[in-house]
Amino acid sequence: MATETPGRETQETLSNLLTETRRFAPPAELAAAANVTAEAYEEAERDRLAFWERAAERLTWAERWHTTLEWNAPFAKWFVGGKLNVAYNCVDRHVEAGLGDRVAYYWEGEPEGHSRTITYAELQREVAKAANALQELGVRKGDRVAIYMPMIPELPIAMLACARIGAIHSVVFGGFSVSALKNRIEDANAKLVITADGGYRRGKPNPLKPTVDEAVAECPGVERVVVVRRTGQEVNWTDKDIWWHDIVDRQPAEHEAVPHDAEDPLFILYTSGTTGKPKGILHTTGGYLTQTSWTHWAVFDLKPETDIYWCTADIGWVTGHSYIVYGPLANAATSVIYEGTPDTPHRGRFWEIVQKYKVTILYTAPTAIRTFMKWGADIPAKFDLSSLRILGSVGEPINPEAYVWYREHIGGNRCPVVDTWWQTETGAIMITPLPGITHAKPGAAMRALPGIVADVVDDKGESVPNGGGGYLVIREPWPSMLRTIWGDDKRYVDTYWSRFEGLYFPGDGAKRDEDGDIWLLGRVDDVMLVSGHNISTTEVESALVSHPKVAEAAVVGASDPVTGQAIVAFVILRGEAEESEDIAAELRAHVASTLGPIAKPRQILVVPELPKTRSGKIMRRLLRDVAENRELGDVTTLTDSSVMKLIAEKLPAAK
Ligand code: WT7
Repeated sequence: MATETPGRETQETLSNLLTETRRFAPPAELAAAANVTAEAYEEAERDRLAFWERAAERLTWAERWHTTLEWNAPFAKWFVGGKLNVAYNCVDRHVEAGLGDRVAYYWEGEPEGHSRTITYAELQREVAKAANALQELGVRKGDRVAIYMPMIPELPIAMLACARIGAIHSVVFGGFSVSALKNRIEDANAKLVITADGGYRRGKPNPLKPTVDEAVAECPGVERVVVVRRTGQEVNWTDKDIWWHDIVDRQPAEHEAVPHDAEDPLFILYTSGTTGKPKGILHTTGGYLTQTSWTHWAVFDLKPETDIYWCTADIGWVTGHSYIVYGPLANAATSVIYEGTPDTPHRGRFWEIVQKYKVTILYTAPTAIRTFMKWGADIPAKFDLSSLRILGSVGEPINPEAYVWYREHIGGNRCPVVDTWWQTETGAIMITPLPGITHAKPGAAMRALPGIVADVVDDKGESVPNGGGGYLVIREPWPSMLRTIWGDDKRYVDTYWSRFEGLYFPGDGAKRDEDGDIWLLGRVDDVMLVSGHNISTTEVESALVSHPKVAEAAVVGASDPVTGQAIVAFVILRGEAEESEDIAAELRAHVASTLGPIAKPRQILVVPELPKTRSGKIMRRLLRDVAENRELGDVTTLTDSSVMKLIAEKLPAAK
């Protein structure tokens, strides 16, 4: 927080931050037929628990709960006494309702021509067989199963098979290293690992099995490793290994789904975190499925009979868990799953897929959108994207320029864009526009969903007035909240419930504008303190990206003897823009005129790439190391570690 009262010039400057006057009303036709109307907010406000009960009633319960919420702060139990089976809800009940022929997944492999269509009836058989196989291998309710796989149909099938028998899955993103995989297997004490020989990435088979071999060699608790044959590449074989097709294919295609307790664990998912050992975020059964399915239906205005929905995330992240697997399947949606990267074999691959399957709802991340901007609007323009009706964004704050580009060049200016804020820990979407209701502002997540109570507070935990900034908090428990950190209740309390008495603190900075709408500003550790004033990296990045020559920008605060911290910006120029002598001066002037002199970067470095984690988050920690001339910290979670070398080479050219 500021240590001195800002001068008048600064106050004016700061109140200009993120000034954004564009508004996009919902299309009238969409609004008229929307799943959710504005009354939902009022209903939930009148009786929040009754609202969530109605959402839970969209599922099929073997036994109804007796208590909606048991809140032993900060430990929640939702739908206590209720029993249900997640796999039954996601698959069997749709087949029983006569929807067996509906497509659950259109799977598109990366090599062209590799595709598969899986109906709900087929999915039911596959999940039943896999569940029988797990039981034959000795997996029982409560056991942990680590899953390390490419984006192939066996991945959701394996997850659903675990859910069906009450085993707890821990999906580890297929790009993670041996030590990351090993730590996660050990922390959860998994007894089984499910993997594949490899998957296709950037035009070639990318091996997974060698990573598993190395990790499992150091994990004596792992009894068996089940291996899907995807690429057919050579693999080493150990006596723990068994082919998926050898064990699964011969199983009966029927399996009884026994109901589980609403609070039985469903899965653990590790958040990498920038420091410390990864946290095993624990989600449970009834509340998680209630909120993921309700939000998927509400936020994307899902019409399961006609929509073709595509979430481009990897299933190894929470976005994939909640919005490729559990939410969409619980709603009997038809989804696309794509195995590979957006530029293989060409930069129009995503748009080719949208055109091929006539995708109506697309859910992707700002980092992807900025990459598409960099590649140029002429690429999507070559494809027929007229099937699209709703666009979503998730993962980090979306800069207004990226939002408007997405709306225009992908959405043809007719599709609402929903900027959805949530986290691995929240399990499901929390703050977002609703496509049939909200007059959306580019860059704002706008407002907490019905049934969610979010607030922006100051240092002392007091609500800030409209126009103020501070920390995002959640005031009341919600159904899909994490229940704890696996094996570490104390760390759960310390990490999320200790900063502000009685409030959940997600770690994000936020601003509430004059209309009361919420803007997310990124992680609070990404807020810079310049001459005693808080400036968020997101705000400066947005200002830089609003300059026509800039494709992407990352901003960090580097220690500075005069100002405490000084702003250092790393920018990638757009394809057509030339790197010139005075580009740094031009961009500094642009930031000063957009945000005010206080936000002017001390240094601007033009770089070819930015260091990103595999989930697309910019690793500012490494950029700070560069800006402060330090040796680089841990680079193991980077997608491409050579990026840092390229950036360091630019350093002497700093302006
Ligand atoms: C963090 C959570 C939620 C699935 C993917 C990431 C940032 C996420 C937004 C958004 C601004 C966002 C936050 C949050 N974040 N969505 N729409 N606007 N920031 O899950 O890896 O657990 O990361 O991502 O900082 O805390 P995650």
